[in-house]
Amino acid sequence: MNTQELTFIIFTVVAVQVAIFALIAFYRHWLSYDELKKRLDNLTDYQEEYAPHSLLSVSPTKLSWTGFRDFRVQRKVVEDQNKTICSFFLTPVDRNPLPSFKPGQFLTFQLNIKDEVKQISEKLVRCYSLSDKPSSDYFRVTIKRVPAPSNVPNAPPGFASNYFHDKVHEGDILAVKAPAGHFYFEGKYPIALIGSGIGITPMLSILNACIHSESKREIWLYYGVRNSDEHIMKDYLEDMVKTHQNLHLHVVYSQPKKPDIKGTDYHHSGHIDITLLRLTLLLKPYQFYVCGPKRMMETLVPNLRDWGVPDSNIHYETFGPASLVKQEKPHPSSLEAETRTSELTVVFSQSGKTYQWNSSAASLLEFAEENGIQIDSGCRAGSCGSCQTTIKSGEVEYVQSPDIEPEQGTCLLCVSVPKTHLTLSA
Ligand SMILES: Cc1cc2nc3c(=O)[nH]c(=O)nc-3n(C[C@H](O)[C@H](O)[C@H](O)COP(=O)(O)OP(=O)(O)OC[C@H]3O[C@@H](n4cnc5c(N)ncnc54)[C@H](O)[C@@H]3O)c2cc1C
Ligand code: FES
Repeated sequence: MNTQELTFIIFTVVAVQVAIFALIAFYRHWLSYDELKKRLDNLTDYQEEYAPHSLLSVSPTKLSWTGFRDFRVQRKVVEDQNKTICSFFLTPVDRNPLPSFKPGQFLTFQLNIKDEVKQISEKLVRCYSLSDKPSSDYFRVTIKRVPAPSNVPNAPPGFASNYFHDKVHEGDILAVKAPAGHFYFEGKYPIALIGSGIGITPMLSILNACIHSESKREIWLYYGVRNSDEHIMKDYLEDMVKTHQNLHLHVVYSQPKKPDIKGTDYHHSGHIDITLLRLTLLLKPYQFYVCGPKRMMETLVPNLRDWGVPDSNIHYETFGPASLVKQEKPHPSSLEAETRTSELTVVFSQSGKTYQWNSSAASLLEFAEENGIQIDSGCRAGSCGSCQTTIKSGEVEYVQSPDIEPEQGTCLLCVSVPKTHLTLSA
């Protein structure tokens, strides 16, 4: 046998082996996709098997009471070693059973905060996610103390969060609006809960609701936190993993301290990102629930879309003005309508400013903030009424139906965009 023949034989053998490996790999992928397809085809059966029935029956947007209801702070619990996160257990003063809510929703509080210097009381509205499963006895919220920003000299620390930590004690009465919000867990598919920092609160509610319903649903919880100083409910979550085979916990520390042990205190270093999700999640039609700081939201949500997760499977909540994620398809979506609306002007009469509408802004509230106009806001979801503003002329259209009816001649800026040229009393 000459060299040419030997080379040909070696080449043929290698080529056959490569082809066999490729065929096996293709076959395995095909099996996975076939499994995925079957699950999607049989979604109804699958939902019935995995969905917690008790949660499916709750109506999402109907508010369970109107206005503010008095709640007593039954218990106040410090949750972290740094003492910056505190849970408040609230029971209704009227002692009537509490209505159910959709895990992921929030409560709206009206606080009367006294300015010690000016000796006046100021009403503040703030929203806090419910951090436990629905219960007829109590609500729980978990609040992080917000410090003054380090880059703005003399700026005060967050008013409401510090008020809760310093001035709200067990036995105190708080004015609370009914659970609301459009970020909530629905009974479909396995779920991937992604909560970073205080963004873990709605995930705890969803997790506890799922566990309580004893559904077999697969739950993946990704919890991003700086280190053990701010790691809340560590023992509880570890116990849940030990007793629930369907729960997979991934704790990610961004700045582990020397005594923090990888594999014991946390599982990964860095931040929750798409690489971590791709490496750990299986090939399944997960529903993703995401809540966290601006940096994470602005990368993770688009990365999930790029990974091929349909928009309908990505649910996210933002806690503040700086945390808004631009929608892939701004409203309105057609190019013609976009050109038309970008020619509209918005006049903020009290501020004496006029701007051309920016059609990529998600709402008039976001547009006002981008232009430095101060507007009160709470929920940013059309539920609390804080951003209600008088329309002096023109019309708005709602991008999401509000939970409350705005007063005649006003609109809720957080869920509306201009329909015509607009003058707002702001
Ligand atoms: C739907 C929803 C759910 C939420 N859930 C939770 C939750 O579960 N837990 C939680 O802790 N939070 C949650 N939040 C956030 C919460 O509502 C508040 O936004 C947060 O507590 C901060 O409010 P604050 O009054 O303490 O801060 P604010 O007084 O509103 O101040 C915000 C920031 O601005 C700075 N600041 C204030 N005045 C100035 C100034 N003059 N110049 C420069 N900077 C200034 C403050 O220092 C602070 O850093 C949620 C928000 C929403 C919308
Ligand atoms: S901010 Fe709550 S309704 Fe607009």
